[in-house]
Amino acid sequence: MMEESSLYKAIMSDPYYCQHFNEVYNDENNWGISADVDPSCLVCGGNTYELLSKIIPKNRVIYDFGAAYGFQAYWFKDHKRYVGINPPSKLASMPFRTENSIWFFGTIQVFFSQFEVEDDSFAICNYVPDNEAEALVRLHCPHCFVNYVTRGDCTAIFEK
Ligand SMILES: C[S@@+](CC[C@H](N)C(=O)[O-])C[C@H]1O[C@@H](n2cnc3c(N)ncnc32)[C@H](O)[C@@H]1O
Repeated sequence: MMEESSLYKAIMSDPYYCQHFNEVYNDENNWGISADVDPSCLVCGGNTYELLSKIIPKNRVIYDFGAAYGFQAYWFKDHKRYVGINPPSKLASMPFRTENSIWFFGTIQVFFSQFEVEDDSFAICNYVPDNEAEALVRLHCPHCFVNYVTRGDCTAIFEK
């Protein structure tokens, strides 16, 4: 039984997205999904993205590099657009979608070999375990949040 994170509560209070959440959460090809909405996980999913969604102006396009299932797209459903980027692995075979979201199914490296981010955008790269990918986001995105503050200390990412 999952505890209720603020992201989980917000999605459950919205009938349309509640149904879609359950489709994604129960998809047999998706796995390891709980950290995205687990309130004891201090780094993935909930609070970081929630706070960013309040700070970033609504007229910005959001690029979420290493978005996993993208449940956090919910926080950005009123922004100009949400672009989720994640490799076409099992992990994101059935990601969460909002009306303003689009997905690039590939690595951050491949994304930047084909595209630049739009003007007036904001990039997020949260807890992506790839130094090269983080460096590319910093290089290509004038406005970005790149965070992996507990890298190397897996025990630090869950509340005791
Ligand atoms: C720990 S999860 C973090 C998910 C999300 N950013 C969050 O904070 O909840 C790491 C994600 O990064 C993705 N990832 C790892 N290396 C990547 C790369 N080079 N390009 C794109 N995504 C990558 C993984 O597939 C996974 O979905």
